[in-house]
Amino acid sequence: MSDLSFKKNNNPIEIQEYYQNLCEEINRYNYAYHTLDAPLVSDQVYDKAYQALVELETQYQDILDTSLSPTKRVGSKPLTAFEVIAHKVPMLSLSNGFDDEDIAGFYKRLTELTQTHALSFECEPKLDGLAISIHYKNGRLDYAVTRGDGVEGEKVTENVKTIRNVPLQLKGDNLPKEIEVRGEIIINKQDFLALNQIAEARDDKVFANPRNAAAGSVRQLDSRIAAKRKLKMYAYGVGAYSGFTLPQTQYELMQQLKLWGFQLTDEVEVVDGEEGLLDYYRRMGHKRADLPYDIDGLVYKLNRLDLQTKAGFIAKAPRWALAHKFPAEEVESEILAVDFQVGRTGAVTPVARLKPVAVGGVIVSNATLHNIDEIKRKDIKVHDRVIVRRAGDVIPEVVRSLPEYRDANTTQEIVMPKVCPVCQSNIEYINDQAIARCTGGWHCRAQRKERIKHFASRKAMDIDGMGDKIVEQLVDKEIIKTPADLYALNLPVLSQLERMGRKSSLNLLDALEKSKTVLLHRFIYALGIKDIGEVSAKALANHFGSLEAIKNATLEEMISIHDIGEVMASHVKAFWQDPLNIELVDALIAVGITIIEPKKVAAEVAETVVDNPFFGKTVVITGSFAEFTRDELKEKLEALGAKCSGSVSSKTDFLIAGEKAGSKLAKAQALGIKVITEDELQVN
Ligand code: IVH
Repeated sequence: MSDLSFKKNNNPIEIQEYYQNLCEEINRYNYAYHTLDAPLVSDQVYDKAYQALVELETQYQDILDTSLSPTKRVGSKPLTAFEVIAHKVPMLSLSNGFDDEDIAGFYKRLTELTQTHALSFECEPKLDGLAISIHYKNGRLDYAVTRGDGVEGEKVTENVKTIRNVPLQLKGDNLPKEIEVRGEIIINKQDFLALNQIAEARDDKVFANPRNAAAGSVRQLDSRIAAKRKLKMYAYGVGAYSGFTLPQTQYELMQQLKLWGFQLTDEVEVVDGEEGLLDYYRRMGHKRADLPYDIDGLVYKLNRLDLQTKAGFIAKAPRWALAHKFPAEEVESEILAVDFQVGRTGAVTPVARLKPVAVGGVIVSNATLHNIDEIKRKDIKVHDRVIVRRAGDVIPEVVRSLPEYRDANTTQEIVMPKVCPVCQSNIEYINDQAIARCTGGWHCRAQRKERIKHFASRKAMDIDGMGDKIVEQLVDKEIIKTPADLYALNLPVLSQLERMGRKSSLNLLDALEKSKTVLLHRFIYALGIKDIGEVSAKALANHFGSLEAIKNATLEEMISIHDIGEVMASHVKAFWQDPLNIELVDALIAVGITIIEPKKVAAEVAETVVDNPFFGKTVVITGSFAEFTRDELKEKLEALGAKCSGSVSSKTDFLIAGEKAGSKLAKAQALGIKVITEDELQVN
């Protein structure tokens, strides 16, 4: 900063000039650090310059234009909702290929369409994040929109501005008048792990994978939170543009993006012919685990832009590009030990403790072994080397063992325990060992924890802030034994728990108080009766109308209800025959739980119910919504008399499609079912 001297009492022009230079200097530091991964100065020098900028902006706010200042990267006041806005050129999706044959088909089709034999392709990793379109006007970042349904998306400008490697001002001189730059927002594997570690320590929600973390951060109404997430944007193309002439190839277009200040992945390459594509696939397959970000495949784009135009589009995807997807990720690890986990209903599940291994960007150290039948079928023993698979968001599983590595001295059979590892009650085996169940019920600490977690969960009593870690501490310290004990908690007790301050304790007490008024079906669901999920709890509540009537219901009457089977009915009956359960429900009523019965709800909303388009209709909900979660929408629709189903069939009346609606939308369209978007929806 030696060339920038600044004295007090300078005139406005001098101040503006000084300010401009300081901004540029800091932008250079930022670009070197965040985009080139090659810092120019030490943290101290950076902090000093940044601080000087902050002071200048505070002192001279009246005469400085700070709209694109590096200080704007920290986010601003939360929004109440995102504006929905159309892309000037739709954001398409990609056709998928899975094997060599698909690649051969892609190549052959393109030689025919372009009538060219030796084709070159620009290749890139397919990043697993959130697609974004950033609009620049005269070189300045104007607004940013999520992909949405491809035609319109949500305006998330404030959040995108916080992403350090997104240029707020384009560099260089070949600047377009307007341009939509497209790319993927991701969070690196390392940063994702750190983010989850912090969340876990605070008992906050952890993200299932980096993609969810990136998408969740960008769709945050509070950009100050987004600013704290280490998001990155990698550019991969352009949408609409004016005042700019495209180069001849995709590769040159990518290089232009780089010159403007965008970051590209280090893996961008041009390859020749079908063999070149397959070779790139092989090489990237080996490199995948070492890349800093998650990828779910590769993208091949015809390099010559004139040939892209010639090849054209089908429906929602270009014919000139292909996503070559990787199979679900499988890696090798070793079983260090096998533990037995006891669930809410007492089910005992064998879990392999693994030597930690990265699978799809997540460190996996536990994987389910399902049950003893599966263990035998897959021939798995303790200390075996095994193949572990993680597909999407599901719990990792052990796929098979590698018996060729087995060491006769260390290997051990996996034997199901006779008594519960937590409470030492007997374990009963059903179906020839396939199902193992601890008979301890409320006496078992593990079941107690899981039952209380279930009771407090969102679809049950919805006690906001009652996280798993809190329940575990409360049960371990024997402060609570049953859900009813939750309502006796107080400030001194809660604030002595780990990571519970005064404020979060007060919030939790508030949430407990709120949860005391509850709809009958939620209360039934919260009791955790075996096999009684949300749907059957609703069916029972609607049919019987009161807790007392459900308690006295006969098996026959329960079975007569659609959605209630014989097994479920017998579980309900058995529930009320256990004196401990009766005691629990009585205790809950005694602490002041007020149950709202469905008839009363129906009477209040009767008028709305008959006179609305959803009454008596079968509705499927897909995708995500800005205004509500899918569960909230489901509750609203059910209150209007709709039946919500999970899959699209000829019986479906409406499909309510949010953002990222996928196969269900395609199926509904194919069946000619009416599709309703969030904008068209009137449920209030
Ligand atoms: S090109 C017309 N390149 O994949 C071409 N897309 O199914 C449109 N994606 O939501 C996209 N990495 O966000 C392209 N290197 C890459 C990509 C990529 C990830 C995503 C994209 C889109 C989806 C398409």
